[in-house]
Amino acid sequence: MCGYMALIDRETAQKIAATYGTPVYVYSEAALRRTAEEVLAFPAPYGFKARFAMKAASTAAILRLFHSMGIGIDASSGFEARRALLAGIPPTEISLSTQELPQDFADLIRLGIHMNACSLDQLECYGKAFPGTEIGIRLNPGAGAGHNNRTNTGGVSSSFGIWHEYIDRILKIAADYSLQIVRLHTHIGSGGDPEKWQQTAMLSLDSIDRFPDVHTVDLGGGFKVARMPDEKQSDLQVVGNAVRRVFEDVYRRTGRKLRIEIEPGTFLMAGNAVLLTRIQDIVDTGSAGLNFLKVDCGMNDILRPSIYGARHGISLFSDAAEEKSYVVAGHCCESGDILTPAAGEPEVLEPRTLPVPALGDLLLIESAGAYCSSMPAKNYNSFPEAPELMVRCNGELLLIRRKQTLEQIIENEVKDLAL
Ligand code: LLP
Repeated sequence: MCGYMALIDRETAQKIAATYGTPVYVYSEAALRRTAEEVLAFPAPYGFKARFAMKAASTAAILRLFHSMGIGIDASSGFEARRALLAGIPPTEISLSTQELPQDFADLIRLGIHMNACSLDQLECYGKAFPGTEIGIRLNPGAGAGHNNRTNTGGVSSSFGIWHEYIDRILKIAADYSLQIVRLHTHIGSGGDPEKWQQTAMLSLDSIDRFPDVHTVDLGGGFKVARMPDEKQSDLQVVGNAVRRVFEDVYRRTGRKLRIEIEPGTFLMAGNAVLLTRIQDIVDTGSAGLNFLKVDCGMNDILRPSIYGARHGISLFSDAAEEKSYVVAGHCCESGDILTPAAGEPEVLEPRTLPVPALGDLLLIESAGAYCSSMPAKNYNSFPEAPELMVRCNGELLLIRRKQTLEQIIENEVKDLAL
């Protein structure tokens, strides 16, 4: 076995592949529970709530597992909020922070879902619909951090949240509709350096004195998971203790005991799943060229490498002593469907040294828990959505999402048109 992080052993992988075929996402319940416990142990002196950013992995079984452990939900669209409700999550456990105000937002609020207004217009719409009530606001604190520019959601280049210099305008709208601003929310980006997170995520507290009714500060997600050995993982105790000191300072200065919320997606999920695939072809481009392992999954199952140049561990079950360097290519008819790009460079191929495999061998794409099953180039080349499976703590295999059928792919097309 080679690779960075082996979540399942060879025997389990073979059993899963024989029963469910490949590709298949495989989640480890034990690992999910361990990470959830780490999140729940976040140091917070005056109250704490963790929410799972469900965009990272939206399958009901995952939402329910976290909810059973006391973790709420961060929904980033009205559809996500509805999906969480359908999964059995109580509305009061759901917080909504969206780029687009859902058309049915008033119905969602009436159910008991919390909302953070993410723009001045959203705040105004909320005020009109629910004058005299409580609301949260999402601020863009003026700086952000991400694993690349596409995942940075703070600073002048980001449209997320209300720009921090517009507090007067926020207060004016709040006054016009007698709104009480009780939650302050920021999410500065995903996958940035943990130290950068610490410096940036609490910038919103600089404006706390302007919001006397705020009792809760939501610091968003963005806690990094090291998907590769050269990446730096966030230590939630270290980060949390730095956060705690800042909140204790606010208390000493103002007498206000602010409750902390965080809403990790990546941290709760990323390392807790693999995408199990099979090598379906091995080709090369001659003596001066490259060796390619072509697998039976692709950007329709895992898009992160193609859009971000995100790197995931690759493991092979092979007894071969000989190693070679390989580019791993997805099965889509798209030259950008590459699973081994250079870091942050989606267009640059970076071969990995792997044991020489045989056709048909299983290959694991690691750290495939976050933004993989939920963020694919869905149905490209008409490949179906792969099934999702959870390995229970007792070793039992639990199917949590079936493989999509071809009929389901085309089910919304209008049939029998006279063309
Ligand atoms: N809260 C808000 C308001 C967010 O927008 C996000 C992520 C999170 C929490 C969770 O962030 P996390 O803990 O996962 O860093 N698709 C990208 C990351 C962009 C996610 C966008 N928002 C990726 O694959 O890395």
